[in-house]
Amino acid sequence: MDELTQLESALAAQIDTANDEAAIEAVRVAALGKKGSISEKLKSLGSMSPEERQSQGPAINGLKNRITEALSARKTMLKDAAITERLAREKLDVTLPLRASPAERGRIHPISQVIDEITAIFADMGFAIAEGPDIETDHYNFTALNFPEGHPAREMHDTFFFNPDEKNDRRVLRTHTSPVQIRTMEAQKPPIRIVIPGKTYRMDSDATHSPMFHQVEGLVIDKTANVANMKWVLEEFCKTFFEVPSLKMRFRPSYFPFTEPSLEVDIQCDRSGKEVKFGEGNDWMEILGCGMVHPNVLRHGGLDPDEYQGFAWGMGIDRIAMLKYGMPDLRAFFDADVRWLSHYGFRPLDMPTLFGGLSA
Ligand code: DAH
Repeated sequence: MDELTQLESALAAQIDTANDEAAIEAVRVAALGKKGSISEKLKSLGSMSPEERQSQGPAINGLKNRITEALSARKTMLKDAAITERLAREKLDVTLPLRASPAERGRIHPISQVIDEITAIFADMGFAIAEGPDIETDHYNFTALNFPEGHPAREMHDTFFFNPDEKNDRRVLRTHTSPVQIRTMEAQKPPIRIVIPGKTYRMDSDATHSPMFHQVEGLVIDKTANVANMKWVLEEFCKTFFEVPSLKMRFRPSYFPFTEPSLEVDIQCDRSGKEVKFGEGNDWMEILGCGMVHPNVLRHGGLDPDEYQGFAWGMGIDRIAMLKYGMPDLRAFFDADVRWLSHYGFRPLDMPTLFGGLSA
């Protein structure tokens, strides 16, 4: 191997192992610097014979060009590698896992769902919704509903009373939704067909009672409303609400100051399995109170009992929600525990309708 070839392969090996810019620069200076090995060769051309110079000149210049090129190629390669390495080292994942939208994550509380179901059923029968205040006067909560002063039925309601005002009137947290019957009679002319969902309050608290609970009241007033109409409305409601094709009902005589006659209604059920089933079996479960509106109540609402008559009913919402959806403890309803809600709650866009299905 001649001297130039040896020099070239030695330089090529140094270039290949030069791993940073300083190392490459050192190789460059050693080969092409003032006293570099290739520079020395170039200088030696001057002392050669013309023939020798003719063959050595292109050979040494060729070597010089190839080494220059190899140095710059190595430099570029190291730069690229450095950038690639830095990109890999500094890689940052700026994407977040996709979160479900609020419409997907949020849940409708079972009480709201059941109120929507109840109002969908009654709206289909031509009922409107009415509402009234949670803080009521003694007049609307009791007196106008034919509870006589000092009558024990007032005490039966375990009422939350406010302190009496300067006129000695005691406000109460309404113990039932019935006061809205009077408010509606005062505000609109018959025929009246309303349902009144809302919050109600009594001093009572255990697994099946909460001091705040929910009722839905119904009121129909016109010139001919009668017990047969009432039975039909309630039967249609119960079948539709419990989503069964047929359901036996039992009407038992009872007492409420605001109705005459007064009835309590039981529905057929089967308690033999783990869960209560409706529309089958030989057991009964009480679900509501009802009756023909008492003439005194019509009078308190500004209506003439000789002209108008009506029927009304009242029902606890929380308990029928527990029964329909198998929720064992009422207290969990009001704990605001998001785990409970995501288990028992309903999808916000699945509005209950009679044509689309109530709970589907
Ligand atoms: N207000 C009654 C209660 O809370 C329920 C009730 C019974 C309402 C009979 C009515 C009715 O409208 O006719 O216990």
